[in-house]
Amino acid sequence: MEAKVIEQAMYDYFQLVGKTAIVTGAGNGIGKGIAKVLAGLGANVVACDIEADSVEKTAEEIRSKGLNVVGLYCDVRNYEDIHRVIQTAVDTYGTVDILVNNAAGCGGGVTVDNITEEEWMRLIELNLNSVYRFTMSVLPIMRAKKQGKIVNISSGAGITGDFSDPHYAAAKGGVIAFTKELAHELAKDRININSVAPGLVDTRMARIRPWEEEIADTLWHRAGQPEDIAYAVAYMASAASDFCTGQVLSPNGGAWMQ
Ligand SMILES: NC(=O)c1ccc[n+]([C@@H]2O[C@H](COP(=O)([O-])OP(=O)(O)OC[C@H]3O[C@@H](n4cnc5c(N)ncnc54)[C@H](O)[C@@H]3O)[C@@H](O)[C@H]2O)c1
Repeated sequence: MEAKVIEQAMYDYFQLVGKTAIVTGAGNGIGKGIAKVLAGLGANVVACDIEADSVEKTAEEIRSKGLNVVGLYCDVRNYEDIHRVIQTAVDTYGTVDILVNNAAGCGGGVTVDNITEEEWMRLIELNLNSVYRFTMSVLPIMRAKKQGKIVNISSGAGITGDFSDPHYAAAKGGVIAFTKELAHELAKDRININSVAPGLVDTRMARIRPWEEEIADTLWHRAGQPEDIAYAVAYMASAASDFCTGQVLSPNGGAWMQ
């Protein structure tokens, strides 16, 4: 059989060798999938999460394959933690090239009439303000070298709304608006900032409504796996997406179209 020749120059656009990526919320679910895929493509991964044990397990899995990773505790609501993660990335790997703002929490299925203001504030703080904080904290590094990739994980809820959790939808819609606005501001520094807005993905966060009802919304009749989202993030983190900024990419099995 004739051997297939991979054209190296094409392949190079998608690989991440020598790049350093911070992934928040990498202890479970989609963030874990993103950390594994980025590391598999050659990136030095700094995986962080508020669940120290979970993120250490992520790091162990990646390390066991001979890939580069550091696992760190980090509460993305806390500037001290954020700065420590960034400093560790710089001390260990020399810089930060890629930031994936993935960490978030869910709303628990409340409707607008029974949500408390305290709960509204809690989720906006976790799902939107933290994206602002982490982004602002890496920008000096990316601006200095006029290069960087920021990928913000939003949600279909932030585009189409959902049956419940208006605070979650507002935060995720805010993530998209923040991404688009910053795309304008950061273009002069050659920093790409994009959003990946998943549809239903089989993680602990998604198991709110009966599963059959959830799956029925997708043309593919299945939920996504973390890797389905991670591959979209990998594209947005790679040189292949250099001409993409301010965009929203939605791996969702055809649940909605934009
Ligand atoms: N699962 C879905 O169907 C779905 C759909 C659309 C969007 N999303 C988004 O995907 C992202 C990942 O969600 P998931 O489904 O993997 O959920 P998950 O609960 O499995 O993972 C979320 C991770 O974030 C971490 N985290 C929570 N609070 C944190 C904090 N203060 N500081 C640091 N880490 C914190 C958790 O410990 C956990 O590891 C989220 O942004 C979520 O909104 C998920």
